[in-house]
Amino acid sequence: MDDKILVTRSSMPPYEEYTEMIKPLWESAWLTNNGTYHQEFEKQLKEYMKVQNLSLMTNGHMALELAIQAMHLSGEVITTPFTFVSTVHAIVRNGLTPVFCDISMDNYTMDVEKIEELITESTSAIVPVHSFGQVCNIEAIDALAKKYGLKVIYDAAHTFGERYYEKSVASYGDASILSFHATKVFNTIEGGAVIYKEEEYGNLLYGLKNFGIRSEEIIDEIGSNAKLDEFRAAMGICNLLHIEDEIEKRKKVAEHYRMLLQDIDGIKLLKVQAGVKENYAYFPVLFQEEKLGITRDLVYERLKDCNIYARKYFYPSVHKTECYKEKYENCKLPVTEYVSNHILTLPIYADLALEQVSRICKIILDMIK
Ligand SMILES: Cc1ncc(COP(=O)(O)O)c(C=O)c1O
Repeated sequence: MDDKILVTRSSMPPYEEYTEMIKPLWESAWLTNNGTYHQEFEKQLKEYMKVQNLSLMTNGHMALELAIQAMHLSGEVITTPFTFVSTVHAIVRNGLTPVFCDISMDNYTMDVEKIEELITESTSAIVPVHSFGQVCNIEAIDALAKKYGLKVIYDAAHTFGERYYEKSVASYGDASILSFHATKVFNTIEGGAVIYKEEEYGNLLYGLKNFGIRSEEIIDEIGSNAKLDEFRAAMGICNLLHIEDEIEKRKKVAEHYRMLLQDIDGIKLLKVQAGVKENYAYFPVLFQEEKLGITRDLVYERLKDCNIYARKYFYPSVHKTECYKEKYENCKLPVTEYVSNHILTLPIYADLALEQVSRICKIILDMIK
């Protein structure tokens, strides 16, 4: 039996590199609370991303939750149902109401033609998601936000290392968040960051991630605890040394998939977007059963029988999950539902051998002959 191939595999720095890095922590015994590595990692990330303002967080979810809290929003927030539940939970946990906008068939991000009709007197912000690292229509979203005086917070969890016309994808909007979860292109085991425009907003964020503590005796915000510790900051510094290599290796895997699966009627791959330097975080494939005569679920099961674990991502879409379906049962989101029911993300990670990619594709192609 072949070894299991999972949808992803975490990137690790060389063992000695990391253990050398963490040795001094036994001397300093300073493990968290804005330690030396935290400061160094934050500085290096700003340089790498060419951004002015960035605040490290304990994970991508808390980055989003606190980014929203620091905006002091109210009422409704327009977002996409085709995302990881974290996006919507972060809105709801801030006491706000998510309003779902359907996605575009082109790149599975929010359909900008459908945003305006959802804006009401109560709308205070838009939270778009660069799903699978596909860049949203930033220009159109920006124009709408200006027209209606709305804040824009991008869930850029999937975009580490990506550029849009030379700028980091995660540098757009009033704020953007990143995830450094173990399954991401770049990881600190668990971790994340908020990238933001206004310095004043940054002061709020810094307070919020440490219980709202401003100084020893002043606590002026109902904050949380979202600090990144020294061990994970050290992991970030080590992994950052290898990020370009990581993305290059993923590129080869993605290109091999693309070569083997393109031009097949009924198999839809995402297009390469103009002006985008990709990070190859995911390889989502739409299996159009009306053309192929087989379902996405059948492909998923067949691969699983061969010890290959693809992922139905994002399925179910958020408005169909147990915790939201009652409230949103009358929502009409046909494109989201179609994509969610037909999509499968195939295994991709830096060290996935091209022979394995060929094997995965052969299993799929044999099914649709
Ligand atoms: C789109 C999206 N948003 C938010 C998150 C939350 O990030 P984290 O897992 O770092 O908390 C994820 C994580 O996987 C995600 O995929």
